[in-house]
Amino acid sequence: MSTPLKTKISVPRSRDLQVDGVKYNRAGSSRSSFEMIAWLFMRMSGVVLLVLVFGHLYVNLMVGDGVHAIDFGFVGGKWANPFWQVWDLVMLWLAMLHGTNGIRTIIDDYADRNTTRFWLKVLLFVASGFVILLGTMVIFTFEPCPAGADPALLASFCPGA
Ligand code: HEM
Repeated sequence: MSTPLKTKISVPRSRDLQVDGVKYNRAGSSRSSFEMIAWLFMRMSGVVLLVLVFGHLYVNLMVGDGVHAIDFGFVGGKWANPFWQVWDLVMLWLAMLHGTNGIRTIIDDYADRNTTRFWLKVLLFVASGFVILLGTMVIFTFEPCPAGADPALLASFCPGA
């Protein structure tokens, strides 16, 4: 006969939750609905991302010549169309916010020290903000017909292509 386990497991949200000497739920008050909204956001952005990501893969890799048609002109042609600009912008923002919030959760779950969690999250938010800003700028400032470019690489609507 095996001996019954003596470990006492605290209620997950209790103030004094302690596992292996590590104290959790350090934030104090849990009255804000931020975590609930973040939880909902992960599910809702996941559903929208399914459509955006698989639509993106289908159009880029399977329609027409598929992956063989991808070059500078292909990207220039897509971003000359406001529909694909908005598609890519929403995909970028949702993927980054979804991924960043997911990593935030993992940091909260696995990093024990307050200072470690703080600096990991600072690094995460700075990196994420940088990618969102840079990606957004690229989508809206992309020059599809740069002067002096090899005409063979340009989109069909560029002068001299
Ligand atoms: C293709 C569509 C996607 C769907 C349907 C989806 C769905 C989900 C869902 C439902 C969760 C919550 C899981 C949980 O709380 O237990 C989640 C977590 C997460 N997702 Fe996504 N996701 C998608 C795309 C992405 C992308 C593009 C990224 C990265 C940029 C990403 C990164 C993450 C991360 C880091 C987590 C946290 C994992 C964890 O808590 O262990 N996901 N995803």
